[in-house]
Amino acid sequence: MIVRCIEKSRDSVASILRVERDAFTETLQSRWSVPYHMRHGRVYGLFVDEVLKGFTIFLRSWDDPCIAYLVQIAVQKDYQGNGGGTFLLQESLMSLIKEGITSVTLTVDPRNARALHIYMEKMGFQIADYRHDEYGEGTDRYYLKLDLRGWGGPENVP
Ligand SMILES: CC(C)(COP(=O)(O)OP(=O)(O)OC[C@H]1O[C@@H](n2cnc3c(N)ncnc32)[C@H](O)[C@@H]1OP(=O)(O)O)[C@@H](O)C(=O)NCCC(=O)NCCS
Repeated sequence: MIVRCIEKSRDSVASILRVERDAFTETLQSRWSVPYHMRHGRVYGLFVDEVLKGFTIFLRSWDDPCIAYLVQIAVQKDYQGNGGGTFLLQESLMSLIKEGITSVTLTVDPRNARALHIYMEKMGFQIADYRHDEYGEGTDRYYLKLDLRGWGGPENVP
C-alpha cells in the first residue's frame, strides 16, 4: 500500500469517481468537482499494486491558510477493514504537515462509528462543535478538529 498526491488526468478523475461511487450511497463528486480539487486543493490516493483503492480530498481554509478541511475520505468497499483508511489518513496528514498545515477540520455523521473511531481514537481528533441541520433539516454533524503541531501519528495518540 502506498499513498501519494494525485494530479489531474482523465484516468485519475475516473478512478476517484469509481471509488467514490463504490464507497458512498449518496455521492458528492462529479467530473466537474474532482478536477478543481486536484488542481486547487490536495487529493491523495491509496494505491495497491498501482490500483486506486481509496482517496482523501482536502481544501485549504480561506480565513487561515494553515487550516485544511477534509472534504472526503473513502476506501473501496472490498478493501475496507484492511487498515487502508487509517494508513491513507495518516499519510495524508503527514504530507499536509510538510506543506505547513497546522490543523485539520472535518464534519462527520455522529452515527458513523467506524469513521469516528479512526478520527478520534486513532488520529486524536476532538469534537469542536455539534452542528444541527448542517446539511439540511435533520442532518446533523460533529465538527472535529486535530492540532497537527507536534502530532506524531496514531502511535502517539493518548
Ligand atoms: C471510513 C473508511 C474510510 C475507513 O476505511 P477502512 O479502510 O475501512 O479503515 P481501517 O481498516 O483502516 O480501520 C477501520 C477501523 O474501524 C474499526 N471499526 C470497524 N467497524 C467499526 C464500528 N462499527 N465501530 C467502531 N469501529 C469500527 C476497525 O476495528 C478499525 O479499527 P482498528 O484498526 O483500531 O481495529 C471506509 O470505511 C469508508 O470508505 N467508509 C465509507 C465512506 C465514509 O464513511 N467516509 C467517512 C465519511 S466522514
